[in-house]
Amino acid sequence: MARHSWAEPYKIKMVELIRMTSREDRERAIREAGYNTFLLRSEDVYIDLLTDSGAGAMSDQQWAGLMLGDEAYAGSRNFYRLRDTVEEYYSYRYTVPTHQGRGAENILSQILVSDGQYVPGNMYFTTTRLHQELAGGTFVDVIIDEAHDPESQHPFKGNVDFAKLDALVERVGAAKIPYVCIATCVNMAGGQPISLENLRQLRKWCNRQHIMLVHDMTRVAENAYFIQQREPGQQDRSIREIVYEICSLTDAATMSSKKDAMVNIGGFLAMNDPGFYEQACALVVVYEGLHTYGGMAGRDMEALAIGITESVDDDHIQARVGQVKYLGHRLIDSGVPVVRPIGGHAVFLDARRILRHLPQAHFPAQSLAAALYLDSGVRSMERGIVSAGRDSTTGEHHVPELELVRLTIPRRVYTQAHMDVTAEGVFSVMERADKIEGLRFTYEPRMLRFFQARFEPVSYSDCIPAQ
Ligand code: F0G
Repeated sequence: MARHSWAEPYKIKMVELIRMTSREDRERAIREAGYNTFLLRSEDVYIDLLTDSGAGAMSDQQWAGLMLGDEAYAGSRNFYRLRDTVEEYYSYRYTVPTHQGRGAENILSQILVSDGQYVPGNMYFTTTRLHQELAGGTFVDVIIDEAHDPESQHPFKGNVDFAKLDALVERVGAAKIPYVCIATCVNMAGGQPISLENLRQLRKWCNRQHIMLVHDMTRVAENAYFIQQREPGQQDRSIREIVYEICSLTDAATMSSKKDAMVNIGGFLAMNDPGFYEQACALVVVYEGLHTYGGMAGRDMEALAIGITESVDDDHIQARVGQVKYLGHRLIDSGVPVVRPIGGHAVFLDARRILRHLPQAHFPAQSLAAALYLDSGVRSMERGIVSAGRDSTTGEHHVPELELVRLTIPRRVYTQAHMDVTAEGVFSVMERADKIEGLRFTYEPRMLRFFQARFEPVSYSDCIPAQ
């Protein structure tokens, strides 16, 4: 039968050259970086899969949009275009621009969360949880159990477990829950989607309890793609329609537009309630900038408005998630343990199963990320016990079940050949996995420690035994 492969719905107009490095270069670089891939210089990296955040390629339309920047301090026309685009594609009536996602999280948490309250969510995200805690709240994980199991093949591992939500209400009372925070395509679970059915039920649950529903919409288009592909009755709907419905089921949203919306910097807080908008306008001027630019230049708001329209294109999203799936299935076919099903933005290596000899106290995922860089110049990110941080009251490590290395694919940046080289790098590390040593802290920052922590290798004899 004739075969019809699909390919990316774009062609390349400009290239950025990458410096190739030797093994000696990389040994020096990772030592100087304290075995933390966040502290490597980008010049020392061959294929950069640290994050999909702000690392995507803008289209010619977006670059052209930069020339249309209206850099007026107040009332820039690009703000109005952004606001109208958010309403048209995402349904939210009011938009407050911020410099990036965490700027929106800060304003949201300061307005809605107060001392002694609880914020349930479908798994934590690092900056989101910290802002809730800084505002006096406690995050409560209400995601289904399957999300914590890398081998579970559940199609919607981002779903909420209503028994967990009910138990929380029973324990603390609905009055102590300012909102439920729901992420589309849950990052820390491996880029796993929530189903439309689960979200519709959650809307009803929130209505019954009179609790707000807030949406971390950083990767909403990728979530919509999985709904279209996997959820009964959704196959004939466009990504744009599904994205719109997801958003309209929620009351407000925080957005890091550095991901789905394909700009290098920017974000927003959006909502439907005029009173909430007024409060957000009052706070944004303290932390970000006037309410018509937040932390963004006019030109960046223009590029973002264009990026939003491109992000919901069916062909774009198929190629984007398709590339991630290609890398994932190359690894699965060779027996590499990865989080299943393959997520929307990244392939997550299961460091526990790759480095069976290392106890979690010696940071298997951090060690694996350093080893992969050393082998092939591929930069990845730890998403395990280091990222989970410490409990703010007891000071003990949070000990997550998932101990993962994230190979995150920036949008529209790398080719299939880059994916092949990455897969070969992982195979090569797997072959000598039992030789990889663990790590221990030489410097541990108090908050969001994974960004700037430094480590040193620990020889086997010094390893704390696995519990
Ligand atoms: N929410 C989610 C789900 C995210 O993945 C991120 C950022 C944020 C909020 C915060 O947004 O970075 O614009 O301030 N994730 C990046 C990552 C850093 O690499 O996963 P931000």
